[in-house]
Amino acid sequence: MKANWNYPTSVRFGAGRIAELPDALKSAGIRKPLLVTDAGLVGLPVTQNTVKLLGDAGFEAGVFADVKPNPIPANVNSGVEALRNGGHDGVIAFGGGSGLDVGKVIAFMAGQTRPIWDFEDIGDWWARADPKGVYPIVAVPTTAGTGSEVGRAGVITDETTHTKKVIFHPLMMPKVVIADPELTVGMPRFITVGTGMDALAHCLEAYCAPGYHPMADGIGLEGVRLVMENLPKVRANPDDVEARGHMMSAAAMGATAFQKGLGATHALSHPVGALYDTHHGMTNAVFMPYVLTVNRSAIEEKIARLSAYLGLAPTFDAFLQAIIDLRKQLGVPHTLADFKIDSSKRELIGDMAIVDPTAGGNPIELTRERALEMFDRAMEGRV
Ligand SMILES: NC(=O)c1ccc[n+]([C@@H]2O[C@H](COP(=O)([O-])OP(=O)(O)OC[C@H]3O[C@@H](n4cnc5c(N)ncnc54)[C@H](O)[C@@H]3O)[C@@H](O)[C@H]2O)c1
Ligand SMILES: [Fe+2]
Repeated sequence: MKANWNYPTSVRFGAGRIAELPDALKSAGIRKPLLVTDAGLVGLPVTQNTVKLLGDAGFEAGVFADVKPNPIPANVNSGVEALRNGGHDGVIAFGGGSGLDVGKVIAFMAGQTRPIWDFEDIGDWWARADPKGVYPIVAVPTTAGTGSEVGRAGVITDETTHTKKVIFHPLMMPKVVIADPELTVGMPRFITVGTGMDALAHCLEAYCAPGYHPMADGIGLEGVRLVMENLPKVRANPDDVEARGHMMSAAAMGATAFQKGLGATHALSHPVGALYDTHHGMTNAVFMPYVLTVNRSAIEEKIARLSAYLGLAPTFDAFLQAIIDLRKQLGVPHTLADFKIDSSKRELIGDMAIVDPTAGGNPIELTRERALEMFDRAMEGRV
């Protein structure tokens, strides 16, 4: 499978296409890139080979990897410094959501004078930015989950309040994406599953979000199918590059669809991730069936249609059971307790969930009572 797409940005999709990175940089107008990735990835062959590829093509690339999973402003600030000190003219955002997000936010912040939280995704705060100060970005995903490679935002954790904040600007959309599924084959199994379930959560929550957005609905629907058919394949056989490719597409589709909105899965997973530093996608996977159950009255018909599309019985229950079976097959913890989360921060998580920016996309109003019901069900395993 090999394809070039121009929606939602220029995407070079296919195995082995990392070899086109030098050409992608040229088309993005970057001559001296700063490759931004996370501290774990930087030492792995997938990154080292990419850096070598750049050297062989005559690029004087810098590497910045002082980035932790669930990245924080300090990671952005030192990256901006590295970009300025090294005289770089663009960024290669390389990695999973953490590396991609920080790379994108560094490219954005490098030309701004205001502090990072001034650009949180609230109203038109993005218009405060100087658009000429945004450096061009080439994105190279190494996980298939967040879809951040085709998104216009980066998620940064505010450590002072333990909240995940979305930094948004339209120009944070990468100019070129290299979507090479071979880069994802070395992911540890836990990350393969967690990131894949994040893609599923994006497609599913976008599809269930209220509002008229048939484009997002169509993308979400097909994205759900791709994950449900291919995630078990890549878990069983990590080298299945074709299935890895479908997962990479599903990840990009999720991020494209969730312009429509997300919902309570993400609204609950964000505080849990910020308070316990858990993996984002795996946290979503734990909450998913309980959120479906509590939202049932608002989504029953839509889910029945989705279920029919997947070749299952056209009922809500058939889909719910398929999600439970998928989680089991993939080794996702069934309860929060199995995920080593206790009830001590229950109230705080409820408070944080209802003000999370994704709460507004939930198909029924996410009241504190409903958020706590979802939390309690997830703790006890009551689907
Ligand atoms: N921008 C968005 O729209 C968006 C959407 C959802 C989530 N997020 C954010 O993305 C982050 C999560 O991203 P993620 O799930 O991709 O995880 P991640 O980027 O944090 O990576 C998880 C771990 O996997 C490792 N890894 C990544 N690729 C690998 C590979 N090919 N081989 C071996 N190891 C590899 C990393 O080093 C890291 O230790 C969170 O901060 C989350 O809030 C952003
Ligand atoms: Fe997500």
